[in-house]
Amino acid sequence: MNLQCLWRLLSMPTCRFAKRKNLLPSGLNLRVLCVLRGSGRTFDVRAVEVCVVMLAALALALPLVAQPGGDAASGRRLVESSQCLDCHRIGETGSRLGPDLSDIGSRRSTDVLRRAIVAPDDDVVPEHRFVRLVTKDGTVVAGRLLNQDAFSIQLINADEQLKSYLKSNLREHTILEKGLMPSFESKLTAQQVADMVTYLESLKGAEK
Ligand code: HEC
Repeated sequence: MNLQCLWRLLSMPTCRFAKRKNLLPSGLNLRVLCVLRGSGRTFDVRAVEVCVVMLAALALALPLVAQPGGDAASGRRLVESSQCLDCHRIGETGSRLGPDLSDIGSRRSTDVLRRAIVAPDDDVVPEHRFVRLVTKDGTVVAGRLLNQDAFSIQLINADEQLKSYLKSNLREHTILEKGLMPSFESKLTAQQVADMVTYLESLKGAEK
């Protein structure tokens, strides 16, 4: 069992998936290597493989069982103080640039909500696609795509204005694959994320 072989194991789909979803601690690769190297023993490839798969499976299952319980009141304060409302609308406050969150609790599951906050680019639903346009005079416009047909493209910009552009007047237009939402993973603790998720889950659209 050599190191190269181990690297290959660690880049197996299961491990890669777990890492991409940030379920594996980023130092895990190194730690596994150090342990194996330090032990001075040789390892059976299959045994290591099984361990790695088990680690990955464990890391996948862990967040599901070990999520701290959230506190909705604290979550509400966090949402109000974390710029979420710069892009989102809840009830009568906030911006219409991003999706309205007033009834998000009845539309999305806990897991989807959590991922929306920590890994927003993983699955941006098509209705939230953003576009970047360059008009013939060189002006760059970005906004959320509302609609497009063969001749025109409609969007809502950061100032919440609805705009329509004739494609013949554009130098280029690109639908962005990634959303505009920044990841809050490094800005919030697991507890804070849990609080936010609990608060968002409570938003069912009734209290407007
Ligand atoms: C810069 C603008 C911006 C900020 C700031 C922002 N979001 Fe978002 N958010 C978006 C956009 C745009 C989307 C649509 C999909 C995407 O881009 O990922 C989105 C998607 C979401 C979704 C999923 C909505 C759905 O319909 O599935 C949730 C939940 C969410 N945001 C919560 C938050 C929370 C909580 C905060 C604050 C911690 C926040 N957002 C901050 C722009 C933003």
